[in-house]
Amino acid sequence: MAKKVTRIGVLTSGGDAPGMNAAIRAVVRTGIFHGMEVYGIMRGYQGMIEDDIMKMESRSVANIIQRGGTILKTARCKDFYEKAGRQKAYSNLKKRGINGLVVIGGDGSFRGAVKFGQEFDIACIGIAGTIDKDIYGSDFTIGFDTAVNTAIQAIDKIRDTMDAHDRIFIIEVMGRDAGYIALHSGIATGAENILIPERKTNIKDIIESLLEKERRKKLVNLIVVAEGDEFGGANEIQKILHENLPKAEIRVAILGHIQRGGSPTGLDRLIASRMGYHAVECLLEGRHNVFVGILNNKMHYIPLEKAVKNKGNIGGEWMKIVKILAS
Ligand code: F6P
Repeated sequence: MAKKVTRIGVLTSGGDAPGMNAAIRAVVRTGIFHGMEVYGIMRGYQGMIEDDIMKMESRSVANIIQRGGTILKTARCKDFYEKAGRQKAYSNLKKRGINGLVVIGGDGSFRGAVKFGQEFDIACIGIAGTIDKDIYGSDFTIGFDTAVNTAIQAIDKIRDTMDAHDRIFIIEVMGRDAGYIALHSGIATGAENILIPERKTNIKDIIESLLEKERRKKLVNLIVVAEGDEFGGANEIQKILHENLPKAEIRVAILGHIQRGGSPTGLDRLIASRMGYHAVECLLEGRHNVFVGILNNKMHYIPLEKAVKNKGNIGGEWMKIVKILAS
């Protein structure tokens, strides 16, 4: 029988995502409500190895639900890939009597948690926090909605100037090797073309439609591209288009890290609060090595292992919608 979890650590790891603070707040306050001691671990796994750990009180998380970034800071920690690093991290938890860990992060962070949970007697629970939404088994990840809305605001502004000048704009959004931010922000801004890694793009078709527009003297076109698309991003696509439409005015905008910051949307605050609450409930119920996801508006506990191995996919219907709505 697994030991009762009485002291928990919470950390944020990998790329930050708006809403992580709301999740930290939920973990701390739910833990304290249940009589647990809660410890904040700074800079993800790095702080766990370097013993940068502090006890948190209910007041430690006051006035953070609306803030982007993460009060615990974050890092991508190479030392945690090594057994020696994980051993050190374990000793630092053990000396405080911490036997439960909540990891808020993406699939890379979950990979670390899986190993750690298998090697040591620490119950690990994941909370899906990444703007990329690339975690199988959850309709949402913390930060995705905010990132999409940030991209939408930026693209709407670019559309004004694009339209005024009758230009082609290629806008690159984040997502690593996933196309969800591009797909959602592209549809929501009426993009004519959306290029994502999950679907093959027929670039000839795009060129053909642009040539046709050029002939009609209506060469204005919005292309949203995911950074991980098959062509290598917006600059590469600009080159291809320029070769075929040498007279066209083609501009590129790479939105970059602006998509990671800012105050979380209502949706992100809500899912972060629910996930944080349920992560602690999981520990109380004796679960471990699962992450908290939301499917059809219901909480699900999915083996961390699965989140690591599986990728969601984007069916052909999505691209049909893009094509029809932009025609
Ligand atoms: O995973 C989140 C993310 O913002 C990706 O969309 C992007 O590819 C990457 O992180 C950027 O990482 P960094 O902040 O280390 O440049």
